[in-house]
Amino acid sequence: MYETLNEINDEVKKCTKCNLCKNRTNTVFGVGNENADIMLIGEGPGADEDREGEPFVGKAGKLMNQAFQGLGISREKIYIANIVKCRPPNNRNPEKEEATACLNYLRNQVVLVKPKIIVLLGSVALKNILGDNYGITASRGKWIEKRGILYMPTFHPAALLRDDSKKIDFWNDLELVKAKSKEKNLLM
Ligand code: URA
Repeated sequence: MYETLNEINDEVKKCTKCNLCKNRTNTVFGVGNENADIMLIGEGPGADEDREGEPFVGKAGKLMNQAFQGLGISREKIYIANIVKCRPPNNRNPEKEEATACLNYLRNQVVLVKPKIIVLLGSVALKNILGDNYGITASRGKWIEKRGILYMPTFHPAALLRDDSKKIDFWNDLELVKAKSKEKNLLM
């Protein structure tokens, strides 16, 4: 058992559990409020994140930040992490073994941060956290409660860059997160 996020991060930095470690510049552990009520889970680092060591600092992240700003959710009050901590080559999806090797770090991040709401960004996050029988198109915008945590699956912000029409759904899903947070008096 880990007692602090730093302890987990120290292990992540030297992790060689899968082949993704071979090409990384930096591991990308997570960022934000360590006591956040809202946690966001993405897929894995892209080129910008690999370079900077922080999640969602590239184009998709900037779009996501704009949505948060528009909704009045502050990035500093939430916590953001990914399924895998090292960049998959050419931004491909992480393979099952890579995600499986890495997931224990994320589980421990969730245990320590203790979020009330987890927003699952895209299919990779959804399937790895809630199971392969969930699909993003059918699941997005609907609350799923498991072991005291409310999950909101939504599109990955990179999908919005490829298809403008998904932006409205993404926005509406985040509105649901905002409304629930208000109702429950959560930090955002
Ligand atoms: N996409 C992700 O899923 N995570 C990041 O950190 C950046 C892009």
